[in-house]
Amino acid sequence: MIVTRSSEEAARWARAYRTAGLSTGFVPTLGGLHEGHHSLLRRARSECEKVIASVYLNPTQFHSAEDLEKYPASEEEDLAALRRERADLVYLGRAADLLPDGFQSWVDVEILTRPLCGAFRPGHFRGVTTVVAQLFSIIRPHRAYFGLKDYQQAAVVRRMARDLSLGVEIRLCPTVREASGLAISSRNRRLSAGEREAACVVHRALEAARRAIEAGEDRIQVLLAALEQQLGSEPLFRTEYAEIVDAATLERFGGGRIEWGERGVLVAVAGYIGSVRLIDSEWIEARP
Ligand code: PAJ
Repeated sequence: MIVTRSSEEAARWARAYRTAGLSTGFVPTLGGLHEGHHSLLRRARSECEKVIASVYLNPTQFHSAEDLEKYPASEEEDLAALRRERADLVYLGRAADLLPDGFQSWVDVEILTRPLCGAFRPGHFRGVTTVVAQLFSIIRPHRAYFGLKDYQQAAVVRRMARDLSLGVEIRLCPTVREASGLAISSRNRRLSAGEREAACVVHRALEAARRAIEAGEDRIQVLLAALEQQLGSEPLFRTEYAEIVDAATLERFGGGRIEWGERGVLVAVAGYIGSVRLIDSEWIEARP
């Protein structure tokens, strides 16, 4: 496994793979690698001849200094995990390269970033799309792998890749969960045992919404009332948003009922337990 902190060297290796005619799969991460990341690396390993990962705790996508400071990261453990998952090349990004003095060029996806997380975290997606565009331009992979846990992020990155003709195919991978249903996330490490149990309410509520939709319920008010009631039953969880939206546009349905468009329906929840932010969603791809 080649490990480099130099963007030039990472670009050189990635170019060498391409020139040799090898397909490349790229997995960008913030570090603090867990089973969710491993699943993306395995998917890339199964579909591409060379697997490239990046680890960069991108400051421009965090809107709270506390969240950034407390982000669990251990380079040594990350590299051990990447070795186990048989990555070929690891780029350890540095702010000196990715956020140089005088930096002022941003990539902004305008509409898909407005609802859901975008409404509560101003500037977050601009930070994500800018760094992902930078990483794509360094690595120039054939395919890049993103988790459905962060559905809006994946949709925004896919839009950017298409709009800017970046030539990268975006692959979406299922959410990896603990046995309890809790979506695995680096931030979960900051939850106590009791809080962790409380956090399971999110998946339980989402699953109930999915079951109701699959059973034919299409009235948004009825679905949202049930979702909010379930989330509200857990005193430790503070809901930031609970939404049912068109999975293509991420917009609410105008008529009060679900309309089945080209990508189906997304039920999405974000909220806090203490100072730990949790997000999760259920994607129902097509009319049941
Ligand atoms: P990070 O949170 O490290 O996540 C890296 C990738 O792993 C993302 O595509 C995310 O959706 C995926 N992922 C995280 N938890 C997962 C889970 N439980 N199951 C499946 N996939 C999971 O997302 C980012 O980093 C950053 O925004 C980044 C894209 C690297 C840009 O800085």
